[in-house]
Amino acid sequence: MIVLVAGAHGRLGSRVVSLLLRRGHLVRALVRTPAQAAVLQDAGAETVVADLSQDIEWTAEGCTAAVFAAAARHRSELGSVNGGGAVKLAEAAYRYEFRHFVLSSVVRADRPERRNGAACEFLAAKQHAERRLATLELPWTVLRFGQLTEHPGDGRISTVMRAGVPLTTRRDGAALAIVDALERPHLARQVVNVLDGERRVADALDAIEPLPLPPPGPAAARVAVPLGVAQADNPPDDPRMIFPDASPLDADVEWVGDGPVLPEPVGNDDPAPGIS
Ligand SMILES: NC(=O)c1ccc[n+]([C@@H]2O[C@H](COP(=O)([O-])OP(=O)(O)OC[C@H]3O[C@@H](n4cnc5c(N)ncnc54)[C@H](OP(=O)(O)O)[C@@H]3O)[C@@H](O)[C@H]2O)c1
Repeated sequence: MIVLVAGAHGRLGSRVVSLLLRRGHLVRALVRTPAQAAVLQDAGAETVVADLSQDIEWTAEGCTAAVFAAAARHRSELGSVNGGGAVKLAEAAYRYEFRHFVLSSVVRADRPERRNGAACEFLAAKQHAERRLATLELPWTVLRFGQLTEHPGDGRISTVMRAGVPLTTRRDGAALAIVDALERPHLARQVVNVLDGERRVADALDAIEPLPLPPPGPAAARVAVPLGVAQADNPPDDPRMIFPDASPLDADVEWVGDGPVLPEPVGNDDPAPGIS
């Protein structure tokens, strides 16, 4: 895959970049400054310098997957970066028909109204991004993390919120979950909690059931109809048509060589066995 990573110089994003490169993927790191770009180029990534609050669609051209791991520096940017920036990246992924898009979100993003102040605004920005994603015909996965920490990872997570257990996620585990999710098509259009836990990341993600197939269409549309009956309700020929129906093709029309059409097919003297 060629993976566009937004927030590639951040604490989570830089871990995602390292893991992707180690697994042999190509990475296009979306960063804010040339100095950040130089760091990521040294690590082996291609880079683009762009601001998520501006136009970023161009950064996606030529990639096949994307990860959103950027985060606003200031509260006033939560809407334009965590919300709007993620939406723009998802729309670019849709525009270029990416194979997968992974959004770094947060547990309780579906309930911003339960919190106040900056926490409420943070959750609301993530909710906005999640809601827009749900409307896009795109294989996306939302990973909802707890509070991200710098504790060294042990490659283990839980996808289940348990009462009384702190809602935290080590960035190492979060990064591994992002990269593993990118490689798992069955997680398309799923929202998954990723918290500190005891299960190997790959096992925890593999244990998530794929979504059920869409319900079958209306029964009437699937009833077998005898040949001919199905065409009975074709509209009548338009009297203004030049020819009321398809005339037999004049063979000469199809012939692009010089002279008349040859009487026999050319170069067809080796019929399949058993056919004379
Ligand atoms: N922190 C948490 O507890 C928590 C919890 C759940 C989910 N999340 C989500 O997890 C992801 C990673 O979080 P993190 O704490 O690891 O992030 P981080 O270390 O704060 O890194 C964020 C990155 O985003 C970049 N960025 C900010 N504004 C930008 C803009 N306008 N255009 C382009 N890049 C921009 C920053 O660049 P600069 O260095 O130039 O500012 C930085 O590299 C984020 O999506 C975050 O919302 C975080």
